[in-house]
Amino acid sequence: MVKICCIGAGYVGGPTMAVIALKCPSIEVAVVDISVPRINAWNSDQLPIYEPGLEEVVKQCRGKNLFFSTDVEKHVREANIVFVSVNTPTKTQGLGAGKAADLTYWESAARMIADVSKSDKIVVEKSTVPVKTAEAIEKILMHNSRGINFQILSNPEFLAEGTAINDLFKPDRVLIGGRETPEGMKAIKALKDVYAHWVPEDRILCTNLWSAEVSKLAANAFLAQRISSVNAMSALCEATGADVSQVSHAIGFDSRIGPKFLNASVGFGGSCFQKDILNLVYICECNGLPEVANYWKQVIKVNDYQKTRFVNRVVSSMFNTVSGKKIAILGFAFKKDTGDTRETPAIDVCKGLMGDKARLSIYDPQVPQEHIQRDLQMNKFDWDHPIHLQPTSPSTINQVIVASDAYEATKDSHGVCILTEWDEFKNLDYQKIYNNMQKPAFVFDGRNILDVEKLRKIGFIVYSIGKPLDKWLKDMPAVA
Ligand code: UDX
Ligand code: UDX
Ligand code: ADP
Repeated sequence: MVKICCIGAGYVGGPTMAVIALKCPSIEVAVVDISVPRINAWNSDQLPIYEPGLEEVVKQCRGKNLFFSTDVEKHVREANIVFVSVNTPTKTQGLGAGKAADLTYWESAARMIADVSKSDKIVVEKSTVPVKTAEAIEKILMHNSRGINFQILSNPEFLAEGTAINDLFKPDRVLIGGRETPEGMKAIKALKDVYAHWVPEDRILCTNLWSAEVSKLAANAFLAQRISSVNAMSALCEATGADVSQVSHAIGFDSRIGPKFLNASVGFGGSCFQKDILNLVYICECNGLPEVANYWKQVIKVNDYQKTRFVNRVVSSMFNTVSGKKIAILGFAFKKDTGDTRETPAIDVCKGLMGDKARLSIYDPQVPQEHIQRDLQMNKFDWDHPIHLQPTSPSTINQVIVASDAYEATKDSHGVCILTEWDEFKNLDYQKIYNNMQKPAFVFDGRNILDVEKLRKIGFIVYSIGKPLDKWLKDMPAVA
């Protein structure tokens, strides 16, 4: 029987292993983590992450061929295939601070695998890690192997949060990179056989190790670049009277461009896009390619610009001051259908408004109050000038309350900012919201999910990213 162990029970490791267990009843899958509360949650009715469809999959397999455990060493020792899906945050100090990935967790996982192994293993790199990490891990394993044969594979994950289960059930492709030696090819085949339980063979792509690693960074950089491109266009649309949705629709009809991932927004967030581009930038700089590094940096700069532009629009339309005014924030997660707030644009927007002394009332259907408070208290790391940490003043947190629904959040507020595209925000009773707000009442739709004309009829002054501006907003231009 093939035994799989996955180190790291997070957003990637948890759902991926649950689906492997579901699709491969003959394989035993153990997901291990050093965090006791996380593993306890995976073993309970309250899973540690919110992901549509995940609970059903876990319930079908847990205790049969899917196990969650903190006994890391035992399960690693017994496994034939070890996935490593630990966190790889951006370094905040030392060499490469602000850009390079912090591989501390990875290295300690690799050393532990070498220490406890008594039989040959395939070690699969599943977290996004910078190119040539596999080589570094290979060295650690080889130098500590005591005669055991380790094969390293790179098998980057392309699932998106909020649609993870569907993405895993029907992946566009599965990518497996490995050494081009007979042992390497054998390892690739072994992992391919796992996925072949449910993924059509022509969708399983096999490459060398480096191509697989670069492809992951490249895919995320290209996706993020599309969003920054459409967001840059949204600023031009506002300046000229074009409508960014019409522009996206029109360009998306070109089959060379395609219609997906062209929604203008307040900015992209999530654990991958910014981190992976910063990695790419760092690798380019280290390889003496400053022009390439600067090209990709611009994708993040436009993303930061888009968030700043949004804040400026809010402040400028309210007579250039939000000091003491209550502003409702609807949505805090980085996208709908997840409770994840890593790199969410809401953090920067809220901090921007707090900097102008606004009082915020925040509501998100899935993000707990403690997470919102924690995120807003954390210092912002300036990736472009890593020496300067932008400190958060401890008093600012008094400016924030977390509401239990959208009506409570918006009551008595001067303005409403939509920062996540949750479906429930589309169907709120906006007449009721308007009636309970200060006047003039503003809506700033950072996700373009609302019917602008309907809101204007109610009496709102509406700003929607990249859409023709209200006369009011034209008269109060935002300085970007
Ligand atoms: C992304 C990649 O899609 C996935 O393949 C990879 O494995 C991990 O990174 P994820 O970050 O979970 O997935 O979500 P995604 O749907 O890509 O959204 C990222 C951000 O871009 C979100 O903040 C989202 O709101 C934003 N976005 C997305 C837009 O602003 N406009 C769009 O058109 C699409
Ligand atoms: C382009 C647009 O495609 C067309 O829609 C518009 O009306 C006019 O501009 P054109 O310049 O005639 O058309 O040819 P195109 O096939 O787009 O190629 C433009 C250049 O890009 C060429 O030099 C081509 O060699 C280059 N190219 C194209 C690449 O280097 N790589 C590619 O993958 C595609
Ligand atoms: P991702 O989004 O990549 O899945 P997460 O941060 O959600 O990242 O998950 C990574 C998990 O890896 C965390 O739960 C963390 O506790 C776990 N982890 C980190 N280092 C180790 C280690 N050496 N052994 C076991 N688990 C680890």
